Amino acid sequence: MEKLNMREITSEIEKVDMQNTTNETVKIVGISGSLRQGSFSTALLKILAEKALPAIEIRVVTLEDIPLYNADLDGEPEIPAVAAFKRIIAESDGVLIATPEYNHGIPGVLKNALDWASRPVFESCFKYKPASIISSSLAFTGGVRAQYQLRETLISMHAHLVMGPEVVVGGIHTSLADAAYTDEKGLEFMLKSLGRLRDEIIGRSLHAV
Ligand SMILES: Cc1cc2nc3c(=O)[nH]c(=O)nc-3n(C[C@H](O)[C@H](O)[C@H](O)COP(=O)(O)O)c2cc1C
Repeated sequence: MEKLNMREITSEIEKVDMQNTTNETVKIVGISGSLRQGSFSTALLKILAEKALPAIEIRVVTLEDIPLYNADLDGEPEIPAVAAFKRIIAESDGVLIATPEYNHGIPGVLKNALDWASRPVFESCFKYKPASIISSSLAFTGGVRAQYQLRETLISMHAHLVMGPEVVVGGIHTSLADAAYTDEKGLEFMLKSLGRLRDEIIGRSLHAV
């Protein structure tokens, strides 16, 4: 496929309307499943945070401060990093998780953080929270196995998974260069998925009126 330069890509992306007609900005948290400094997952979240504005504001968070889950420590007073993580999720309109696949599954750091966030059971910050997933990998399989494990985990927490085609990014290293995403169609696909997340959030707030 012909590669476009960033100026061309940006103008193409501007044509991708969010499906809902309201001007409201929704606030979501973008959780990266990788701690790696040069993480493609984190880089992708940052790019989406820029491209999704003003319809969606994405706060990108990484999980280095979250300790290993220990039920003995899961109580009052809460561990500050855990309390902050849960508060950010609770205060967001929705969640986007961008994760790699490790050994056909979810990276331990991500599962660990979700285990913290899943408490109190059935009353956690994830309950009914609209949530979307992007999995990615260097391989063409795009982390699809991790994606399905993650879906199961989010379902167990009663998060509200947004329906639609799964966003599975294979060969992510070939599309990220100098903090830009060069696969125009792929980016469009991701922004459409984010549009569905936004529609879900706005639809819910309309129901609540
Ligand atoms: C411990 C480990 C296990 C991995 N297992 C898989 C795997 O099962 N499937 C896969 O597609 N990629 C696998 N990879 C490759 C990662 O998906 C790839 O390195 C990815 O870019 C890491 O995400 P990041 O760039 O956000 O850090 C593995 C990498 C590591 C370090």
